[in-house]
Amino acid sequence: MGKPLSPLAKPVGPFSMARFSLKCLLGGITPETFLAEYWQKKPLLVRQALPGFGDWLNRTSLSDLARRDDAESRLVRFIRGECLLDRGPFEAEDLAGLPKKNWSLLVSGVNHFLPEGDALLHAFDFIPLARLDDLMVSFAPPGGGVGPHFDSYDVFLIQGLGRRRWEISAQDDLEVMDGAPLRILKRFTPEQSWELEPGDLLYLPPQYAHNGVALSDCMTWSVGFRVPTAEDMVGNFLNYLQDNLKPTGLYSDPDLKRQRHPAEIPATMLDQVAAMLKAIRWDKDMVADFLGNYLSEPKSHIFFDPPERPLKAAAFAKTVAKRGVRLDPRSQLLFRGAIFHMNGERLAALPETHAALQSLADHRSLPPGPVDTALLPILHEWYVAGYLLPGMRG
Ligand code: SIN
Ligand code: CO
Repeated sequence: MGKPLSPLAKPVGPFSMARFSLKCLLGGITPETFLAEYWQKKPLLVRQALPGFGDWLNRTSLSDLARRDDAESRLVRFIRGECLLDRGPFEAEDLAGLPKKNWSLLVSGVNHFLPEGDALLHAFDFIPLARLDDLMVSFAPPGGGVGPHFDSYDVFLIQGLGRRRWEISAQDDLEVMDGAPLRILKRFTPEQSWELEPGDLLYLPPQYAHNGVALSDCMTWSVGFRVPTAEDMVGNFLNYLQDNLKPTGLYSDPDLKRQRHPAEIPATMLDQVAAMLKAIRWDKDMVADFLGNYLSEPKSHIFFDPPERPLKAAAFAKTVAKRGVRLDPRSQLLFRGAIFHMNGERLAALPETHAALQSLADHRSLPPGPVDTALLPILHEWYVAGYLLPGMRG
């Protein structure tokens, strides 16, 4: 078991989101054009999408993250052509004696630990936050990668440190190798290839075959999107219905007739139960309520750190008035109309709080200023739960 480490205090490198430009990120096209022409349709390569981007994390700081209990990390090694996969948390010695070539360390959910990672992820908020998943960062020495594969989600691959060659293919043949611990393609026929340098970006739609091989010590930052399966969503919605539907009545059979086989399920019973099930109803508001909780629910390994000695409401209001307030990077706040969903919890908010709560959800922070009396108890409760904290986002 790895041990939890304190969050990284400062990024290592000089790139700041203050210099970020959406126009540059998308290579000069508007988000509208990107969505109409590329999103879920075709790849887009943008040279210098994030000029100066490079070393917010390095091998050492990523290895520190891979030792945390609350981070999802993987180590992929290729030894004599065989793919080996280990899952974290790792011990320092697991990561120290690795060979000079052909492995890759990947950490998911980096946006939860690195405020700058949270800001980078949300630079992609021209796509609804309900679709945004997380930021994964990988380190690989020369030759390292995870092999040719496809993902079921859209991904923006941003080159951090070093150089990586990406090969991509629109091939329909997506058969994967038997017995490999990762879904590696049996056959891969690259159609296009580029060497990415720090700050370059490659967008790939779902199911697009790709292979990234490190040319030098190399870090890749992947902004990924969530694609819940119909099976998962339907299963969770049925659980929601179970918790929220309150069917009334009892099974009854005043007209019961004696039957030839006592063990046979009576046809009238079948009809009555079928009618009961047919009476199950739900409306769009229930679907929206379910969806808000489902989408904002933290993943199972995510835990919040409530303040040990929280400020009382009045002192909290003074601090927020002076410093503003921001969501904890692990928090998910979504809304529809007057209903807000914070980390899987529903809140029906008063109209006078809507604008501020919508702004907090959209921008993940509120600027300094007086806190409305209806808003204060909501913000204070979330602060006590560790969902938000005083101070603006960097
Ligand atoms: C990586 O960072 O090596 C993997 C990213 C990907 O191919 O999706
Ligand atoms: Co991939």
